[in-house]
Amino acid sequence: MKKYCLIVICFHLFFSANSQNTDVASKNFSNGFPIKDIDVLISKMSIEEKVGQMSQVDLGVIAVGDICNLKNPQQLDISKLETALNKYHVGSILNVGCGSGTISLENWKKIISAIQIKNQKSSNYPIPVIYGIDAIHGANYVMGATLFPQQIAQAATWNPQLVKSANEISAYETRAAGIPWNFSPVLDLGRQPLWSRFFETYGEDVCLAKSMAVEAISGLQSNVDNTYHVAACMKHFLGYSFSLSGHDRTPAWISDRELREYFLPTFQAAISVGAKTVMINSGEINGTPVHANYDILTKLLRDELKFTGVAVTDWEDIYKLVNVHHVAATKKEAVKMAIMAGIDMSMTPNDFEFNDLLIQLVKEGSIPQSRIDLSVKRILNLKKELGLFDNVVYLPSSYPDFGSKKFSDVSYNAASEAITLLKNNSNVLPLMNKDEKLFVCGPAANSLNLLNGAWTHTWQGVDDKYNTKGKLTILEALRANFTSVNYLQGTSLDSIIDVNACIAQAKNADKIIVCLGEIPCTEIPGNINDLTLPAVQLKLVDELSKLNKPIILVCCFNRPRIIHSIVNKADAIVYAYLPGDEGGRAIADCIAGIINPSGKLPFTYPKATNEIVHYDHKASEDLATDFSNNAYQPEFDFGFGMSYTHFTYSDFKVSSDTLLNNDSISISIKVTNDGKLNGKEVVQLYYKDIVASITPSVKKLVAFEKVDLNVGQSLIVNLKVTKSDFSFINKDLKRVTEEGTIELMLSDFKHAIYVK
Ligand code: BGC
Repeated sequence: MKKYCLIVICFHLFFSANSQNTDVASKNFSNGFPIKDIDVLISKMSIEEKVGQMSQVDLGVIAVGDICNLKNPQQLDISKLETALNKYHVGSILNVGCGSGTISLENWKKIISAIQIKNQKSSNYPIPVIYGIDAIHGANYVMGATLFPQQIAQAATWNPQLVKSANEISAYETRAAGIPWNFSPVLDLGRQPLWSRFFETYGEDVCLAKSMAVEAISGLQSNVDNTYHVAACMKHFLGYSFSLSGHDRTPAWISDRELREYFLPTFQAAISVGAKTVMINSGEINGTPVHANYDILTKLLRDELKFTGVAVTDWEDIYKLVNVHHVAATKKEAVKMAIMAGIDMSMTPNDFEFNDLLIQLVKEGSIPQSRIDLSVKRILNLKKELGLFDNVVYLPSSYPDFGSKKFSDVSYNAASEAITLLKNNSNVLPLMNKDEKLFVCGPAANSLNLLNGAWTHTWQGVDDKYNTKGKLTILEALRANFTSVNYLQGTSLDSIIDVNACIAQAKNADKIIVCLGEIPCTEIPGNINDLTLPAVQLKLVDELSKLNKPIILVCCFNRPRIIHSIVNKADAIVYAYLPGDEGGRAIADCIAGIINPSGKLPFTYPKATNEIVHYDHKASEDLATDFSNNAYQPEFDFGFGMSYTHFTYSDFKVSSDTLLNNDSISISIKVTNDGKLNGKEVVQLYYKDIVASITPSVKKLVAFEKVDLNVGQSLIVNLKVTKSDFSFINKDLKRVTEEGTIELMLSDFKHAIYVK
């Protein structure tokens, strides 16, 4: 049982000889690894050592106490450490210990140094241990690190460069803790809004998510500089995000064509920019658990996509082939299945049974040595590429920017650019009068945790004891911007505290700000059966609306919770996603007009729980009961988001009416900020395939660019498209661009081109 115990335990780091370890933390081990040639090394390794490299255990396995009942998870148990390293030659360790929370930079260094020092004595040819961590929105398990908006909010910025910067910082601060491997980014497409991990995705669209994926990988990784970079891990290959029930790790039914059309391209793009590792989908697709699927893990991933990096399982997933999926009768059979399907490393993660079983399987000839050598080579190459054979721990002085203002400014910019203004009747926002009487309420108003979501200091992110001091909640940030801010929570996330008192207080206010939220959660603990926002929060807004005062909703949701019944009761809706530690400031600054919102929805916001239709749906889904073509009526459309200023589009030009082979076409448009404030706009180019052998979508995003325009400024934006941009997966599972007419759509402009 993983982190399913949500007890969060206070840490003190113990390490037997502290002063000695401070020295070691800064020691360079470059001479500690006698053999660095991977092939030579493999030729010297025993089968036990090779299998050890293929195993990964949780920090809890080498810590004092029971794995899931740790009092001091950072207290390393030297005899357990010896078992892991000397007996089992474990090649990788992960995370913070079951149910545990964030660890200080100094303590990370001590833990990792202690592991590496012990490891030096584990064999005649020691191999560095690779530590891996979930740094999901910043180095969230490193105390004092910069926390960014979650991925869904990063996607809402439509600013890939900002996503790159956030990932560069995340890598820097992860390395600062001595950790070279980050289990991020999530490249699963967010097309099932019920899913508890929706917020971990870059949204529903292939084009947008691909752009973000490429920059995230580039920000995390580098082939030349290891000091400030880490290995990225593409998650979770493949089709994890699209379970039928919407519950985590439940069956997905995805045709091979759709798998390739929607769910593969983000991974393909990440591989093309050198993603070093991949984590496998815990679930099943069309009846086959992905961990046992040779077609996906070897034929597709290796033979077709040419991925040469390391494939790690997700949590305990080899054993789950027996006890969850029931496709293997014994753990031994499961180990054979997974390894032969293409797994390189098992996130076991609580014991060494995997090691014993794999050794047996090799010794009895059920798994060839060559198969083991292949995985070991990939793992050792990764360690080499990451510089682990050269330097085990970097000097603390190499990271002067850790937790700096420079870094939190990037997080603030990301949160600011993510905020998506979904409604603004009569320009109620921004509130320019700083002395207006504001009444603030709702469960997200005064909680840093609700701004950050899961993977924040702890796995589920609900415990507030590790929160970084000085980070402002929405309420605190509003109080910094306005002179008269009155607050009463009114309701918790799902129960009434005192709505009547709220009504009484709101009567004296000029404006009411209701901050709606969702409990931080992810994976199975985040399963819900109804996308509708809990009734009490809807009721709070409903009751307040009876006062006939302007209501501003601020939404901090993990996924697009249905708010249809209150949309008309609100004058403005500020959709903030999970904007991270700087989110409170960004929201308050948006309300005060200090920033001008420029986020656009990276998903289609549904109006009703059973109406999950994406913007790139098929024409048949537009057919209404009266046979008109307007059945598609989301609450808010993909790509939608308002600004406090106004942009005019003109001079739409397409460089050619025909697109041949390797040519490209330039589409240009003039964008003018003719409003009253400086602002940013996202130019979005869509297309429609008029006739195709696979029913075409009514529209699809093909290119975009975010531009920054001062009042009165105009800019010509040029977007380029090539033939492959109009390709799709045909019935033979081949990516093709068919000859025919394509309609380009940009703002209100349309232009047909002929593709040959
Ligand atoms: C999650 C992964 C995560 C891993 C390690 C799993 O439960 O699905 O996304 O990287 O745990 O914590």
